[in-house]
Amino acid sequence: MSHRKDRLLAEVRAYHREQESGGRFEPGVTEIWPSGAVLDANDRVALVEAALTMRIAAGSDCRKFESAFARRLGLRKAHLTNSGSSANLLALTALTSPVLGERRLRPGDEVITVAAGFPTTVNPIIQNGLVPVFVDIELGTYNATAEHVARAIGPRTRAISMAHALGNPFQAAEIAELAEAHGLFLVEDNCDAVGSTYRGRLTGTFGDLSTVSFYPAHHLTMGEGGCVLTSNMALARVVESLRDWGRDCWCEPGESNRCLKRFSYQMGTLPEGYDHKYIFSHVGYNLKATDIQAALGRSQLNRLDEFCAARRHNWRRLREGLDGLPHLLLPRATEGSDPSWFGFVMTIGPEAPFTTAELVAFLEERRIGTRRLFAGNLTAHPAYQGVEHRVSGTLTNSDIVTGRTIWTGVYPGLTDEMIDYVVTSIKEFVAARG
Ligand SMILES: Cc1ncc(COP(=O)(O)O)c(C=O)c1O
Repeated sequence: MSHRKDRLLAEVRAYHREQESGGRFEPGVTEIWPSGAVLDANDRVALVEAALTMRIAAGSDCRKFESAFARRLGLRKAHLTNSGSSANLLALTALTSPVLGERRLRPGDEVITVAAGFPTTVNPIIQNGLVPVFVDIELGTYNATAEHVARAIGPRTRAISMAHALGNPFQAAEIAELAEAHGLFLVEDNCDAVGSTYRGRLTGTFGDLSTVSFYPAHHLTMGEGGCVLTSNMALARVVESLRDWGRDCWCEPGESNRCLKRFSYQMGTLPEGYDHKYIFSHVGYNLKATDIQAALGRSQLNRLDEFCAARRHNWRRLREGLDGLPHLLLPRATEGSDPSWFGFVMTIGPEAPFTTAELVAFLEERRIGTRRLFAGNLTAHPAYQGVEHRVSGTLTNSDIVTGRTIWTGVYPGLTDEMIDYVVTSIKEFVAARG
């Protein structure tokens, strides 16, 4: 490293120290965000270092992050994307690839998914001309059970695509077994659950494909970013092709002829020997991330264990602090799981002497941020009116969640003092109304 660069990066560390607020927590004044990025001096240095090197497109940092992250999850391949939503789009679209032969998903095929959650878990189903089959969730875990999924399987069902709700694993082992037994693909949206385990195994490792988001609210951040993971090498190739314009070639940027046959292919109705770099085997996108994002991701990855531990700690402190409180259904981990939580979810009881809006207003007044379980029942939103879908059973709990469920933060930027203030505030509110 040049002396000048050393000096610059040392300055960056000094600048970082200067920027750290170190301000004391003031109850009712300091914001208690529901989520946020936790960035340290190493992250700032990683970003500046990548900028100094002017690694502005996808390159070696992306590849290094992909290898390290795949290894971390015990999977063979990870492909970085520009968001978790793009990762979901790639994972679902990969299942429609002609490479899969008879198993490929075709327009009109059904994919089982959950009605109450984040829209871009579901959207790729619709965007690929497939039909979402919505199942309900349980209150408390906020996941669909294997039973819900089993009941939804019909003659046109070809895949299951679901998210681990706010970090709480769905019954991934049982649902993977169901998928196997019925010849269905399983996509795990692991965007909110990196580090969670179900029956001792990491979420994101049960499905044919899984996805992650690196938006600042998530367990690791790159600012924007996402990832598709799989151990199925055929699917990995498809994901890469779809991410990189649909190309058939798998050379890195700046690389040529890795396959040693660059000018010897004959594909489609192209002339023999057409440059493989420009042969397209999928109707693809460009959903790549950049090295600047990946440099931040590599730095963040060093803190994954610490971040997951903090999320568990904060969740437990809230759970114990609020235990026994009337009128609020407190969250519970899916049996057999150890969630790396995304948020602390509460559902207001039907007989509660207060409304969701009143509780939210009270907390927001105290600078305690709240969020909804994302969209709640998606089928109630304007975007989904008129979209072909099937509902299996009823969506009673999804509707309850839409009306009466909120969550507060557990992210690693929160201190015990903040968490205790959340606990006392909720207790005070309930006592005053009860
Ligand atoms: C479960 C789930 N899936 C997908 C996404 C989309 O991720 P991104 O914001 O990176 O597109 C989110 C975003 O929070 C999410 O919670």
